[in-house]
Amino acid sequence: MHLKALLCLLVACYESAASLNTENATQKDFPPLLLISFDGFRADYLKKYSFPNLQKFFSAGVLIDHLTNVFVTKTFPNHYSLATGLYAESHGILASHMFDPVTKKKFSLEDDTDPFWWNEATPIWVSVQKWGYKSAAAMWPGTDVMIQNHTSTNFMKYDSKVSFRERLGNITTWMTEDNSVKFAALYWEEPDHTGHIFGPENTTEMTRALKEVDDDVGFMMEHLNNSGLWGKINVIITSDHGMVQCSKDRLIKLDQCISRSSYTLVDLTPVAALVPINDATDLYKNLSNCHPHMKAYLKDAVPDKLHYRNNERIQPIILVADEGWTIVQNGSLPRLGDHGYDNSLSSMHPFLAANGPAFRKGYRMETINSVDLYPLMCHLLGIPEMPNNGSFSHIRCTLVSEKCTDLAVVVGIVIGVFIVLTTLTFLFRLMKNRDPSSSRPFARLELQEDDDDDDPLLE
Ligand SMILES: *[C@@H]1O[C@H](CO)[C@@H](O)[C@H](O)[C@H]1NC(C)=O
Ligand SMILES: *[C@@H]1O[C@H](CO)[C@@H](O)[C@H](O)[C@H]1NC(C)=O
Ligand SMILES: *[C@@H]1O[C@H](CO)[C@@H](O)[C@H](O)[C@H]1NC(C)=O
Ligand SMILES: *[C@@H]1O[C@H](CO)[C@@H](O)[C@H](O)[C@H]1NC(C)=O
Ligand SMILES: *[C@@H]1O[C@H](CO)[C@@H](O)[C@H](O)[C@H]1NC(C)=O
Ligand SMILES: *[C@@H]1O[C@H](CO)[C@@H](O)[C@H](O)[C@H]1NC(C)=O
Ligand SMILES: *[C@@H]1O[C@H](CO)[C@@H](O)[C@H](O)[C@H]1NC(C)=O
Ligand SMILES: *[C@@H]1O[C@H](CO)[C@@H](O)[C@H](O)[C@H]1NC(C)=O
Ligand SMILES: [Zn+2]
Repeated sequence: MHLKALLCLLVACYESAASLNTENATQKDFPPLLLISFDGFRADYLKKYSFPNLQKFFSAGVLIDHLTNVFVTKTFPNHYSLATGLYAESHGILASHMFDPVTKKKFSLEDDTDPFWWNEATPIWVSVQKWGYKSAAAMWPGTDVMIQNHTSTNFMKYDSKVSFRERLGNITTWMTEDNSVKFAALYWEEPDHTGHIFGPENTTEMTRALKEVDDDVGFMMEHLNNSGLWGKINVIITSDHGMVQCSKDRLIKLDQCISRSSYTLVDLTPVAALVPINDATDLYKNLSNCHPHMKAYLKDAVPDKLHYRNNERIQPIILVADEGWTIVQNGSLPRLGDHGYDNSLSSMHPFLAANGPAFRKGYRMETINSVDLYPLMCHLLGIPEMPNNGSFSHIRCTLVSEKCTDLAVVVGIVIGVFIVLTTLTFLFRLMKNRDPSSSRPFARLELQEDDDDDDPLLE
């Protein structure tokens, strides 16, 4: 009887929640979206360090434990994937250092503003503007570049010395002064910076850097609250990649395998890109046997799962170091922490947290692909998706507006358990009636042993 009542209650709640959320869907005014990236925030920092403010943020919202990001697991490729939903081979920002064989142009983090590199894709801030809204950005990679003739409506020139608080303050000013600003993106260099210098295993330094990050999250919530934006806008906090410890004992020296006069170096570690000067075969043969912790690929043989082949600017030879190994020509260890490795390594994964009117409260998911964020953001803003490699269906259950199977599963399990227990009870009674000699305590014991669920509903 109790069970039946409980079931009715569950179904009723579910139905009323669903109808509430679909009401007036057609004339919904889409709330603005603020996307924040803390560079190099490795997913498992969440388990190893304490984040009181971030915890407050996602316990009233959504937490996705880790994101499978895109190869190469570097800053620019992954920030552009978050903003486009495309793998690096499809959006064209392939690495921190690029070379174009046709135009002979070069790209580096210090020289990144030529639209040439970015125009293969349409980032979400450009789409937002094409649909008649405005955008605001604080140093998110690409937002200050004339991509398809548009920078972000409001943007800041890159300057690492501008504090998190100033970046946030100016963004929220743009959002509050003009309610047609629907999309805002904020980039912050930590904990990447500290992770590179000291390595992610230096708990002293990481504790300090991550406390600062958490303080920034606390400041962000307070500042949005004071600006009247908190609870009204959707906020997503995520990152581009993780970080792994490197060591002077894990160096791979190219000079020991190939002569410098035989190739041009475009990028070095942990994923190297080489252009052979003459014949690629000899170079490739030497590199294939160079080091047990480095794989060499001719461009056409880069594994499918890396999605890193179909672009003119992927060089003829690609070298990939194993986790924690560093490729040098003949130098010493450049950094104690690094990223860029295979995107299936959990050390390379970031996390995602979200809070706002569109998101469920206290909802947790294990994983999505980082390219799935783009279709979610388009959905939140009510704009059509450009062609992309993500999938809204992977992430839609984070939203209150989506009918998701989880409640149905709960109902299913309850019904299932009910049927099993009823059957067991029935059989038990049947057996007892048939065999009056069996002692009652023994029979109870047997029933309990058979039934791990030990469901109190039976009583
Ligand atoms: C839904 O739309 C109707 C008609 O425009 C309006 O009267 C009503 O207040 C709206 N309901 C909600 C919950 O916004
Ligand atoms: C870019 O802007 C310039 C100047 O406003 C204009 O002449 C040109 O046609 C635009 N190009 C595209 C592709 O929209
Ligand atoms: C932030 O806004 C203030 C006030 O308008 C301005 O002086 C400052 O230059 C802005 N900061 C950046 C990095 O644009
Ligand atoms: C962390 O870095 C500090 C500063 O360089 C250094 O003194 C300390 O020994 C390092 N700790 C570990 C565990 O590496
Ligand atoms: C927002 O401010 C109000 C009033 O000061 C306070 O009660 C509330 O707890 C704040 N909310 C957050 C999330 O900081
Ligand atoms: C490959 O290795 C051999 C043997 O060490 C060396 O003689 C040759 O120059 C190397 N080839 C290239 C292209 O570096
Ligand atoms: C590499 O460095 C070592 C030590 O500094 C030096 O002895 C060696 O000659 C260098 N090799 C090349 C190919 O530059
Ligand atoms: C990723 O999406 C782009 C754009 O739709 C498409 O051209 C490309 O083939 C996709 N990549 C994969 C591996 O599906
Ligand atoms: Zn980064």
